[in-house]
Amino acid sequence: MSQHTPPERERRLTVTGLRAMKGATRRIVAITAYDVAFARLVDAAGVDVVLVGDSLGMTVLGHGSTLPVTVDDMVRHTAAVSRGVERALLVADMPFMSYQADPADALRNAGRLMAEGGAQAVKLEGGRQVAPTIERLVGAGIPVIGHVGLTPQSVHAMGGYRVQARETVTALRLLDECRALAEAGAFAVVLECIPAELSEVVTAEVAIPTIGIGAGAGCDGEVQVLHDLLGLTEQTPRHASRFAEIGGAVVEAVRRYAEQVRAGEFPAEANCTRMEPAVVEELRRAVGGREGPEE
Ligand code: KIV
Repeated sequence: MSQHTPPERERRLTVTGLRAMKGATRRIVAITAYDVAFARLVDAAGVDVVLVGDSLGMTVLGHGSTLPVTVDDMVRHTAAVSRGVERALLVADMPFMSYQADPADALRNAGRLMAEGGAQAVKLEGGRQVAPTIERLVGAGIPVIGHVGLTPQSVHAMGGYRVQARETVTALRLLDECRALAEAGAFAVVLECIPAELSEVVTAEVAIPTIGIGAGAGCDGEVQVLHDLLGLTEQTPRHASRFAEIGGAVVEAVRRYAEQVRAGEFPAEANCTRMEPAVVEELRRAVGGREGPEE
């Protein structure tokens, strides 16, 4: 166990606790959640970070990208998740155009995610160009995680969801972006869809924890979209694995429910509430004494 490896946590993970996991042998485990039911489950599983990702645009709201997600969407889902998380660090994504136009907007919107949503930190996409915004947020007491590589809010600028920084020039640029984020005060950075060798370099060169998704196993931690892992999405991205087939289990359960309702088998006696026999008698007498509907 390295000097920085924390013991199994009893209390809630904090930003400083996560920051201290840099370089530890125990890797950071992060996962998304978007509602209270899954928040409770992932928290009970002992993850370190629960991210209310703007991926909820696709996984929960049915959009084709993260771009239509609003601050109100994020506040509502973050608040729901916060009611189910007791131990993990709760991080909320800042959605498209909630921080790009103006640092003052960013401050207001991040403030809502913390005050109304109950987030302990926010995550935003971009490199050097968002550094002044990060400084502003951090200066106001709002902890920030950066996100570089494949940044889904820039899907159109990137020409699709593709692996980034495969060449020396772009790889060095990405390393520079990560340094800028760390200097601006970000306490961790998500590396999405970049070559594994580059993640290793960034992890070695940058002082803050790196959390990979589609970035190989050389980061300080890993983040995944819950729905990809549970088999709740139609397609599984290459960087994810299906650890369960919950989608199939849901279809099967609802099919059996429908079958039993149609067969008159559900609800069963055990699912019903019965009146006291005296009350039933009284009710029958009262109904029997009344005129029935006219034929
Ligand atoms: O929105 C999200 O779920 C994310 C993760 C993929 C890192 O940003």
